[in-house]
Amino acid sequence: MTENAFADGAAYVKGAFVPIADATIPVTDWGFTRSDAVYDVVHVFHNGFFRLEDHMNRFARSMQARRLRPPEDRAAMETILHRCVALTGLSDSYVAMVALRGRPTVRGSRRPADCQNHFIAYALPWIDVIPLDVQERGAHLWIASVPRVPDASVDPTVKNYQWSDLTTGLFEAHDNGFDTAILCDAEGFVTEGPGFNIFVVKDGTVITPDRGSLHGITRASVLELCAELGIPAMVAPLPRAVLEEECDEVFAATTAGGVMPAARVGRRILGNDRPGPISRKLREEYWKRHEAGWHRTPVRPLA
Ligand SMILES: Cc1ncc(COP(=O)(O)O)c(C=O)c1O
Repeated sequence: MTENAFADGAAYVKGAFVPIADATIPVTDWGFTRSDAVYDVVHVFHNGFFRLEDHMNRFARSMQARRLRPPEDRAAMETILHRCVALTGLSDSYVAMVALRGRPTVRGSRRPADCQNHFIAYALPWIDVIPLDVQERGAHLWIASVPRVPDASVDPTVKNYQWSDLTTGLFEAHDNGFDTAILCDAEGFVTEGPGFNIFVVKDGTVITPDRGSLHGITRASVLELCAELGIPAMVAPLPRAVLEEECDEVFAATTAGGVMPAARVGRRILGNDRPGPISRKLREEYWKRHEAGWHRTPVRPLA
């Protein structure tokens, strides 16, 4: 039997499907030199996309906000995502779509409007931004000293690659022996972490920040679950002091890992140093509903 050349991942770039190792962009692409790109990530669980429609809607909004207009329309992009996954043969996958500014068609131009925008997509084997064993134990979350970039400068609801502040948070977290980081804004409100939204549980109520964060699809799923399970939940300002001193539980939420409970935040140990009961319940329900086909779009087989 021949080895599948796409087993490590399949990409669509420059209009063609290639093994992930062969997917490249020019060094002069503004998507690279200026992080002038928007993206989205959807997961495939047991051969089905989760909330594909919601991810496509958010991606369309991101592209519009940054005036990115690649030639492929939405239907073509969806077909490309299906094909990337099908080529890999993976039943569980991390699937990214990216719109890049590209290169100017007029030599030396500094005008974004002169650039030829393009679309890239790829499917990789499943990724958990917090490894499974750490999720089980409960993540140790560092509260970063660097503030999250202001919303007025970089709109956090437009999914983007401007990660300097988030990466600095990771440096600090790892230097201090923590798993990952949470960033607060300059006014002292909790925002999000490198690749995930943050939730706290305080006196039985689930709270996620109303600012400085992506409107995560997993965040929306958590809020939906809370409504169905009768757990009070709200999107509200979240002062850093609540995280550092007052909350009972903390968890992170993202497409690449789902609901990921914490056991420690900063120098504080939460509860019995293990994931708390509401975090555990939400994590369990999130995956149980995946098994039952929640918001599922089957991956189209190769034609
Ligand atoms: C900065 C940031 N916040 C939040 C999230 C979570 O969003 P979602 O649940 O849509 O994956 C992500 C996902 O990658 C992210 O990069």
